[in-house]
Amino acid sequence: MKVLVVGNGGREHALAWKLLQSNKIEQVVCVPGNGGTAIMERCQNLPLAVDDFAGISAYALANGISLVVVGPEVPLAQGITDYLQAQGLMVFGPSQAGAQIEASKAWAKALMEEAGVPTAKAGVFTDAVSAKSYLHSQGVPIVIKADGLAAGKGVTVAQTWEQAESAIDAIFQGQFGSAGSSVVIEECLLGQEVSVLALTDGLTIRPLLPAQDHKRVGEGDTGENTGGMGAYTPAPIATAELMARVQTEVLEKTIAALRNRGIDYRGILYAGLMITPDGDFRVLEFNCRFGDPETQVILPMLDTPLEDLILACIEQRLGDMPPIAWKQGAAATVVAASGGYPGNYDKGKVITGIDQATVAGATVFHAGTKLDAQQQILTDGGRVLNVTGLGENFQQAIAQAYKGLQHIQFDGIYYRRDIGHRVLK
Ligand SMILES: Nc1ncnc2c1ncn2[C@@H]1O[C@H](COP(=O)(O)OP(=O)(O)O)[C@@H](O)[C@H]1O
Ligand SMILES: [Mg+2]
Repeated sequence: MKVLVVGNGGREHALAWKLLQSNKIEQVVCVPGNGGTAIMERCQNLPLAVDDFAGISAYALANGISLVVVGPEVPLAQGITDYLQAQGLMVFGPSQAGAQIEASKAWAKALMEEAGVPTAKAGVFTDAVSAKSYLHSQGVPIVIKADGLAAGKGVTVAQTWEQAESAIDAIFQGQFGSAGSSVVIEECLLGQEVSVLALTDGLTIRPLLPAQDHKRVGEGDTGENTGGMGAYTPAPIATAELMARVQTEVLEKTIAALRNRGIDYRGILYAGLMITPDGDFRVLEFNCRFGDPETQVILPMLDTPLEDLILACIEQRLGDMPPIAWKQGAAATVVAASGGYPGNYDKGKVITGIDQATVAGATVFHAGTKLDAQQQILTDGGRVLNVTGLGENFQQAIAQAYKGLQHIQFDGIYYRRDIGHRVLK
């Protein structure tokens, strides 16, 4: 079977890598892919844009692709699944209607309220005057969210009314493009965040191992927000009791609410949870796709062939599948970034030591890299590589990731040295 993976991040490299562990997968084509997917055996890149649905479809139909797996949210929100399915292709990822759960925070909030899913109290406003008037009826800190895809930059946790007002102004002044037509103003919750990614065929929903990300660029969780600087799984804070509650109070209710709206949601449903200090939880947001970097720790722990799970979701027979099989122990990944990220950074730096890192036992997933004409791997983005370690416990997994990372060099390399600090305490 030939599979096409849409996207070019560490998540997509991990998806391609995991799929290729099965002897049922002959080949993976990544659109557009990165340096890692360019050099992986039985894998190749196709230089098309992720929103070139006609190009992707024409290639897939002409080249015997039987499954398309979509990584990022943008093409899902633009309807890639609907488009490719209409051409007769099998696609893993929700329809455009389903992707609204990530693409509109107001829509997701209404769905959660309707379904009785625990979430932060919020108001949704379509103009700055009413938004600010609501703001002044609330205390600070408070959370201001642009209502659309904003590449992780649309949320402000405001410590003062002034900060909150400027966030509201920025949204209505169009700083986030079409995400600027409404704003969600939300109660600020304290606690630890956990990512629960679940597989669903629209009827049955099964969680993957819970993971924790490290959003801030600096050690001790300080500095600016990023796409994620490292992750580990299984997150101990998500106890079996908590996961049982998430199953009934979040995952099943959400899928039922989607069905009530006529949405047959098949793919990944990713709940971003805040575990509050009293041990309770709220949903902060939903995503309609695999997380990055969570995927780079979850998939290395997965023993069940990924394509079996994906096909069961697409063919609506997830309920007939045996329980998902996982490796024992833990996985951790550390992101190596370009110096300056998430601000300005240089590209085109030569990366060395990837093979040595692999020999040292780590798994290297490329993110912002590319292969040049001289067959060198160059930096090509803010988050450059993910170095994943596995072990019997967190100590071992984290140590293996850092041991691998020691071999990797490029001009300006930056990574956090405290990935996993919560679980090492
Ligand atoms: N209600 C909230 N209380 C406290 N922090 C929040 C709240 N909502 C979001 N955040 C913080 O902002 C980050 C981004 O918000 P999120 O809703 O996940 O949007 P996105 O991932 O689309 O930027 C979260 O990971 C969390 O750290
Ligand atoms: Mg988020």
